[in-house]
Amino acid sequence: MKKKILAGIIIVFALIQFKTVDKTNPETDSAQDFLAVNNASIEMENLFKNACYDCHSNVTRYPWYFSVAPISWWTRGHIDHARGNLNFSIWQTYQQKKQDYKLEESIEIINKKWMPPKTYKMMHAEARLSDEEREKMVSWMKSINNNTTGNNE
Ligand code: HEC
Repeated sequence: MKKKILAGIIIVFALIQFKTVDKTNPETDSAQDFLAVNNASIEMENLFKNACYDCHSNVTRYPWYFSVAPISWWTRGHIDHARGNLNFSIWQTYQQKKQDYKLEESIEIINKKWMPPKTYKMMHAEARLSDEEREKMVSWMKSINNNTTGNNE
């Protein structure tokens, strides 16, 4: 009986692998990219790319387990959802208001350690931010914020 159940599980697992997910990234234009348009330093670029860009950009680096269903289904949905909420690759297409709002949200979220999400940090050591790194990201984003609100006045 146990053997049959195990065989059943293996067969189902094998079958769901046929339902693959799209691993191609949309095309990107660096003229629209958050880090590029705000002249991020290499250090800032690395911090954001390691901690946020796999979900909030069009330049996702897909890990090997992204090819394994049902993880792939879940991850695909998660990335699409995150991009829908905030996509740093299309930053320049956002209205000024939306940029300001997303900056504010990002500052809050980094300060409160809500992002990057815990499950992601489990798999990605490079995304675990130190307090110092978090402070650097926040103060850089605040400097952008000041510039943009300055333009509105
Ligand atoms: C593993 C994927 C992942 C990573 C990495 C990640 N996020 Fe998110 N983020 C999400 C998802 C999914 C949502 C949508 C949550 C929701 O709508 O409930 C989200 C939502 C947000 C929001 C909107 C919050 C809101 O209240 O609507 C902001 C801002 C944000 N993330 C910023 C960041 C920043 C900044 C980083 C890097 C420090 C980051 N995220 C890293 C997945 C991720």
